[in-house]
Amino acid sequence: MICRVSGHITMTMLLWSTGAAVALAASPAPAEGESGMVVTAQHLATDVGVEVLKAGGNAVDAAVAVGYALAVTYPTAGNLGGGGFMTVRLADGTTTFLDFRERAPGAATKNMYLDDKGEPVPGASTDTYLAIGVPGSVAGLEAAREKYGTKTREELIAPALHLAKDGFVLEQGDIAAFADGNDMLAQDPAAAKIFLKDGQALPLGATLVQQDLAKTLEAISQGGADAFYKGATADLIVKASEANGGILAKPDFEAYKVRELAPVECSYRGYDIVSSPPPSSGGLIICEILNILEGYPISYLGYGSAETTRLMVEAMRHAYVDRNTALGDPDFVKNPVEKLTSKGYAESIRAGIDPYHAGVSAELTPAGFGESTETTHYSIVDKDGNAVAVTYTLNGSFGTGKVAEGTGILLNNEMDDFTMKPGVPNLYGLVQGEANAIEPGKSPLSSMSPTIVSKDGKPFMVIGSPGGSRIITITLEAIMNVIDHGMDLQEAIDAPRVHHQWLPDRVYIEPRALSPDTLRILAGQGYRVSVDEDWPIWGEAAGILVGGRDLDEIATGEGPRYVGAIDSRAAAGSARGY
Ligand code: GLY
Repeated sequence: MICRVSGHITMTMLLWSTGAAVALAASPAPAEGESGMVVTAQHLATDVGVEVLKAGGNAVDAAVAVGYALAVTYPTAGNLGGGGFMTVRLADGTTTFLDFRERAPGAATKNMYLDDKGEPVPGASTDTYLAIGVPGSVAGLEAAREKYGTKTREELIAPALHLAKDGFVLEQGDIAAFADGNDMLAQDPAAAKIFLKDGQALPLGATLVQQDLAKTLEAISQGGADAFYKGATADLIVKASEANGGILAKPDFEAYKVRELAPVECSYRGYDIVSSPPPSSGGLIICEILNILEGYPISYLGYGSAETTRLMVEAMRHAYVDRNTALGDPDFVKNPVEKLTSKGYAESIRAGIDPYHAGVSAELTPAGFGESTETTHYSIVDKDGNAVAVTYTLNGSFGTGKVAEGTGILLNNEMDDFTMKPGVPNLYGLVQGEANAIEPGKSPLSSMSPTIVSKDGKPFMVIGSPGGSRIITITLEAIMNVIDHGMDLQEAIDAPRVHHQWLPDRVYIEPRALSPDTLRILAGQGYRVSVDEDWPIWGEAAGILVGGRDLDEIATGEGPRYVGAIDSRAAAGSARGY
């Protein structure tokens, strides 16, 4: 029996058949709200979203304002120079998805990152002007506002403009976000001028003022997306690209279009999942893994048990092969959406899972690809129950680390998400497939998974995360932790994670995800399990639950209307309700 022992700080208790009550886990209390909830990776951006909701804006208005604000206060991933996805579920149950992912420039070619011998040129797809895809964020935020928002462009850009022009004080979490980027930012004079002082990292308590970015925001505020794509901003980015060996051209910007797509939908144990379709792999792969796991009594088997871990790993192994082989930009590739979301396909995979021994990745069809850790996700619900999940990114932390002089805009290195050369492992040890080959105007495949779960026609959970190819499993595990393991939202997001992505054929875990005896059982079955020393922070999930802190509280109907949680791994983030 699951019971709640305290009204405020919750602790989930399990009453074993012996009658002894055992505390499973404790965690900070998630945030509560009755009229709305905003959860982002930077607390000032969260405040911007809450103020928009309080001023009568809807969740899309708040999401647009937060998108602009994060571009100022969270330059590691918030952006105007990158791209992303927005999943929307309106209060009337309508769902939609806006794709504002970057696109390859018109002059891009399949082998643009290979040398004369056909080998990848180190750093070409990550650290140079060739790495930059045509940005989509401004077009995406404006398309969302125009179609689903209620506030004016000026109103929604004003908070970001203020933060850029007057600056904001760097707190410890902001300093931590900059720590990994300072060396890279120092290489680019235009970036160093903004983000460093005399070549040194900005100290705690410094005020970061971004005058060029303020000018760009002002231009967008007055002229809309055209000011960016058809005006001086595009001119300045193209000029910087031409001066530095890049291939971006003005027609690439003029041709940029947001795609409104049908989200991927599936069900898991009576819950309805709505998530990202291609050009993201996220929604399809979450659905495929959940469909496979639905056939097992995961709740009974328990969080962190050898059996649950084994089943998750095998489901992930199979789903990531599909991700890596078959998926790409829907305008260029026919994606097997029906197959990957079908319960029958999941059943056929279950039938092939060996109950006693680890599967062998090399025996499954090869391919693969992945991306960097840095991206950001935010979740918003408003007073009417409109829910928005946004994940957007520069790809690497601070993207290329390059700013086009005069714009204040950090430029993405999203082109690295394409297949550079089929079969060759990328920066993250992943190999890539032909469906994701570079073509002009094409978007690279993503893992970003802004997801909304509903139950009985009502919103239940809004969730997503950064984390490169682990975005999918981070989002998946937060959902499973709530639905299968009865965790409260904060515990569900903070709980140590497990990840397998077909290749390399090993199970990655966060520290203390599995006990020593569990590790021994898995090793005995042939699994190679390790903590990933190179990747200490996997992702920073941002989620909202509707109706309570956990399933138990939602069932009683006595919980707060909205509960929000920012990952405890996120140093600068916050969840705030009102
Ligand atoms: N660059 C991260 C992603 O799109 O998945």
